[in-house]
Amino acid sequence: MTAALSLSDVNLSEPGVFVQGYPHEQWKLLRREAPVFLHPAMPPYAPAFWCITKYDDIIAVSRDPHTFISGRGITMFGDPAVPDPAFGRLMIMTDPPRHVRLRRLVNKAFTPRAVAALEPHVRAIAREIVDGVAGQGRGDFVTDIAAKLPLAVICEMMGVPRADWQMMFDLSNRTIGAGDPEYSGPGTGDQGSMMATFQLMQYFATLTLDRRAHPGGTDLMSVLVGADIDGQHLDDQELMYFGLLLIIAGNETTRNATTGGMLALMQHPEQRARLLAEPALLPTAVEEIIRWTSPVIHMARVATRDVELRGCQIRAGEKLVMWYPSANRDEEVFPDADTFDVGRTPNEHLAFGIGEHFCLGAGLARLELRVIFEELLARIPDMELAGPVDRLRSNFVGGIKHMPVVFTPAAKT
Ligand code: HEM
Repeated sequence: MTAALSLSDVNLSEPGVFVQGYPHEQWKLLRREAPVFLHPAMPPYAPAFWCITKYDDIIAVSRDPHTFISGRGITMFGDPAVPDPAFGRLMIMTDPPRHVRLRRLVNKAFTPRAVAALEPHVRAIAREIVDGVAGQGRGDFVTDIAAKLPLAVICEMMGVPRADWQMMFDLSNRTIGAGDPEYSGPGTGDQGSMMATFQLMQYFATLTLDRRAHPGGTDLMSVLVGADIDGQHLDDQELMYFGLLLIIAGNETTRNATTGGMLALMQHPEQRARLLAEPALLPTAVEEIIRWTSPVIHMARVATRDVELRGCQIRAGEKLVMWYPSANRDEEVFPDADTFDVGRTPNEHLAFGIGEHFCLGAGLARLELRVIFEELLARIPDMELAGPVDRLRSNFVGGIKHMPVVFTPAAKT
């Protein structure tokens, strides 16, 4: 029997902790005993920060962007007092009122109406992807299936030519994969990841030049190049940051919900059988997959003033880290929170965040997930795991890098 965990065992800074899957036991302990908890500094991983693990507290923090700002970093890494050129310029690291103005520039492409209009095209891409593997009877679910749809959709929306999609996939993996030797390059660590970020920014600088030379296009980068805030165009750096944010957010999240969702269905055959018998459950199944996988593991805020939260004194300048997978298993909110239930209603999970920075692409992600699972379940209903699941070494992106699967080969449609 293993000894019970205590607060002195809590270690959420070290990315290696997440390689075996999410540390739900640690989060459960924190929710029960110290829902607002000062995590000690763990060099070289992260300085000290406050852990926020309860559903209601994440809502309270996210809905108060004046007290808890994004403009001094949105991850546990780095010291908020050390300036970074992205602070206040990369949309996800800006605060009101500038944040609202930046968001308005891209919002139109992500409204429910705009997203609904994409469905036929998203379905055509999903069919092509499933067709490509259905006859093989085996494959790597991540690279053969899950990664392809979000990559294609976001690249098309941004006007990235097809010849560059694989490069976008590699560079965005390296950007988020700082702690993972496969993604960042063996022995390169943070440097490999920083180089990839730089390369992506350069790529979007070149794309920006092209859009300036050929104005009037309808893709997102063209729209952003032509946009202005109070009569001022975005500068080159803001455009590069927008490119970076959209390619990473569009590409590194839904992929992991798709893979984690298929894994959950394979691990809960009774839930898959239920879904196959009753396809009308797909919308609730998609929400449950997003709650269950919570592929963005944390986002951070920095307090602008001294403030008390559940009796804990948080000082101005200190960092708070919100753990979404923990909020999404909060037993005070979700009955049988540790049960995967494709018919779960209500299911007001926080996987997309809440408040000021609520995920811009939530509707798009939901569409991509519903369509790929519709196509997959119809064509390949008996997929099974064929080897170990290879997880990303990260406590920021809940990634699965490889997932070998087998299934009965299906004829082409
Ligand atoms: C299952 C898939 C996804 C999950 C779990 C997810 C999660 C999140 C979360 C938690 C935030 C909140 C950040 C905060 O409060 O600090 C966020 C913001 C954002 N997401 Fe997503 N996301 C997903 C898919 C997408 C997609 C497909 C896009 C498409 C471009 C996207 C674009 C963005 C952007 C641009 C922001 C920043 C919004 C802002 O600063 O106002 N996301 N996402």
